[in-house]
Amino acid sequence: MALSIDFHAAANRYSYAGREVQPDWAALMRSLVDPAAKRVADIGCGGGIYSAAWTDLGAAQVTGVDFSAEMVRTATEKNHGRANIVFRQGDALATGLPSESADIVFERALIHHLTDYDACFREAGRLLVRGGQAIVQDRTPEDVALPGSPEHIRGYFFECFPRLLEAERARRPASQAVEHALGRSGFGALRTVTIWETRKRHDDFRGLGADLRGRVGRSILHALTDAELNQLVEFIGQRLPANAPVVERDRWTVWSGTKT
Ligand SMILES: C[S@@+](CC[C@H](N)C(=O)[O-])C[C@H]1O[C@@H](n2cnc3c(N)ncnc32)[C@H](O)[C@@H]1O
Repeated sequence: MALSIDFHAAANRYSYAGREVQPDWAALMRSLVDPAAKRVADIGCGGGIYSAAWTDLGAAQVTGVDFSAEMVRTATEKNHGRANIVFRQGDALATGLPSESADIVFERALIHHLTDYDACFREAGRLLVRGGQAIVQDRTPEDVALPGSPEHIRGYFFECFPRLLEAERARRPASQAVEHALGRSGFGALRTVTIWETRKRHDDFRGLGADLRGRVGRSILHALTDAELNQLVEFIGQRLPANAPVVERDRWTVWSGTKT
């Protein structure tokens, strides 16, 4: 089953531009690296939300790279006026950025769209100065397969449509595969941690329903027809308290390594 979000389509250009960076994410990054005055390359930057977050954490300069011209256009528009962030179109495997021009390479929700992690991490290593740090954040098959609950809404997707879990298992990075690829690509002092990140707070179920129906930032939902999506929203609605706020959280895995 193909997951058919088209990153290059103008219709999807705001798909990764609406999220609010949460304090739990910022705290984790600070625990992994001191961002103060660092040069950051944010590869697969989408709408540039996390590019901006790195400057908020104190980075001196952030370069966001995405292979989609539409994403680059959105990221540039959304970050208008931030002098220390630039966006460039480029592929994660061959970004076109100068060698040894970054202290931190950040890749969030990118690698599950790739098949060749080694090539991606070799390029990250090329961009980094010696001692620089790669931080890779994605969801593993174990992360996504956690059961549904009023917080882990994603788990309900797979209870309702088990075929989606098979698709997720096929495309999600196994933690060991990422660790081995980082090691082969010249990274040492590897660390792997998991984090529960707040995805979004909704005033009530209606807000969540609208978000799901829009498929915003949820490429997996592009594998459902509109009728199936309605069925899913109803399924989830039956499992959540009515008229209560919904705080949606996802578990992520974060791998970090130092360029040796
Ligand atoms: C799920 S979005 C994540 C966006 C952003 N990192 C975030 O966390 O909000 C994945 C992004 O990776 C980009 N992408 C996918 N494959 C890529 C590649 N080979 N090279 C560069 N960007 C890529 C897509 O265009 C999309 O913007």
